[in-house]
Formats: sequence, C-alpha cells, structure tokens
Amino acid sequence: MADLRKNYVISHGYDESGRLYLQQWLWKSQLGWDLHPAIKLPESGDVRIADHGCGNAAWLQSLASDFERQQKNVSLVGFDLLGVHYPASDNLPENMKLGILDAFTDEIPEEHVGRYDVVHVRVFTAVVKNDDPRPLIQNAYKMLKPGGYLQWDEFDGGSFKAVAPGSNPEQSSVSIAATKEMVDTSLESSQRAMNLKYSWTGRLGSLFQEHGMEVIEDKRMDVKKELRKAMTDSLLMMLSHVARIAVRNGSLIGTDKNWEELWANAGDEIGQGVSVTMDMIVAVGRKPL
Ligand SMILES: C[S@@+](CC[C@H](N)C(=O)[O-])C[C@H]1O[C@@H](n2cnc3c(N)ncnc32)[C@H](O)[C@@H]1O
Repeated sequence: MADLRKNYVISHGYDESGRLYLQQWLWKSQLGWDLHPAIKLPESGDVRIADHGCGNAAWLQSLASDFERQQKNVSLVGFDLLGVHYPASDNLPENMKLGILDAFTDEIPEEHVGRYDVVHVRVFTAVVKNDDPRPLIQNAYKMLKPGGYLQWDEFDGGSFKAVAPGSNPEQSSVSIAATKEMVDTSLESSQRAMNLKYSWTGRLGSLFQEHGMEVIEDKRMDVKKELRKAMTDSLLMMLSHVARIAVRNGSLIGTDKNWEELWANAGDEIGQGVSVTMDMIVAVGRKPL
C-alpha cells in the first residue's frame, strides 16, 4: 500500500480539514450541484455512491443533506488512504460509511466490485503520480454497476496563475508580477519536489473513452470572478503546506529564490485584489449498460 506520509504532502490537521470544507463550498458555488445533472440515479433499489480520496467527506455530507431533503434513500461510501480527517463514525448520517482504500490498488475488494451507481473523484492533482490516472480509472470502472457513472472534478495544477481583479484582468493596471513569480517558481519547485505532472487533467475525457465509457461531460472552466477570493485563500493554504516540502534552506528547490521574500511580495499584490487560480475541470463518463 502507498504510504500517504511519503506520497501526499498536505497536513493531517484541522487546518487542512477546514480547507477541505472551504473547497467543498467553492466547488458547489461554482457548479451549482454536487452530482452532475446528467447523472440519473435509479428511482428505487440499492442505490450506492462511492467517493475515492474523500478527505473529511465534505462532498458526501453535502450529498447526504440533499438526499435527505429529497427523501431519497441512497447509500454513501467514502474511501481514503488514511482516515485522518474522518468525522467520528457516531456523527455520520445513518446512510454513510467511511473506510480505508488505496484508490490506486490493484486489488479492489470483491465486495466493492460492480456495486456502485456513481463513483466520484475530486482534487487528485497532488495525488496522481507519473501523469497517469489510469489505475484509478480502471478501479472506478470495476466498482461501477453497468450503466453507472464516473464523475471526476479536478483542478489543473499546470494552469496555476496570477489574475488581476475585474472582468477583464488582462486590461487591468494592477500589477501581478510578484504573484506571477511566486506562482511560477512554486509550481516548478513543487513539481520537482513531488514528481508531479498535470497534463493528465486535460485528457480525462479521452481516458474515460479509452476505458470503454461514454463521455457525458468533459469541460474546463475558469473559476467565477466572485469565487476568486475563496480559491485564492484555499490555494494559499495549500501552498503553505507545499512550501514545507519544496523549500530547502530557505530557497525553493531548483532556484535561488527565497520563499519568504516571494511570499511577502506576492502578499502585497494579493492584498490589492490579485488572485491565484487554477482551471476547474469536470469529466463524467458512463459505463455501458
Ligand atoms: C485534496 S484532498 C481532496 C479530498 C476530497 N476529494 C475533496 O474534494 O474534498 C486529496 C485526498 O486524497 C487522499 N489520498 C491521497 N492519496 C490517496 C490514495 N492513494 N488513495 C486514496 N486516497 C488518497 C488524501 O488523504 C486526501 O484526503
């Protein structure tokens, strides 16, 4: 089994769990839904949804509230490599269970094969190694019932950028130079430190097709202007964790840039309304009936 402490950089504390709740709010505010509107769940029977790398189960909890309002009976199952952010099991809704599972395992337990109407994956941008999400797509496919859906919501780490305020940021007179330098150097440095590549995020639709799924959705979006602040806060929190790994002797790996200085200079611009953003991607595939 992969060792999360070696393979995943983000904190195991309440700060990261809090960031995951912010991230849930951000995705739902951007999309207006948790489950893609084209996903049709059966009206009755044993309806089941699984979430890989579920973190603190914020997405599942949001779904649980929606289903409760709709009086829909759906079993919700979350998996993660470590349950460090899991709420107490006694505090979960009755229809939710959380377990431990490596999303990239080559042995999906039999009890999960062909059992799910939807498998969901979100924000694996710092998890997928070697630019290759295929083992996870294969596992999700195995876990789906015929006609089931794989919904993958992702940030494209490679599109990390500094954005001036307003609807036409390219025409803004606000300087983004220091933020751009911080973003570019930390992107390159964290990629080196963690061996991350991001081009797979733009190939999810074609990878779903390669695995025999019908592609229902494959879209890339800029975050809405009104949500740039929330995305900036979330990315800066994430970056402060990444910096712990990617900074050696005060400098970023692969450059002579001093992290504190880059961060402070970018902070001045961010205080003037500059944002840091990444493209958001949603891909939905359907397993044949
Ligand atoms: C950025 S968080 C996203 C959490 C959640 N999907 C969300 O959107 O709120 C990535 C999650 O993947 C988990 N993770 C990392 N490697 C994993 C693996 N090999 N298998 C399953 N989960 C993994 C981490 O523990 C973390 O909870």
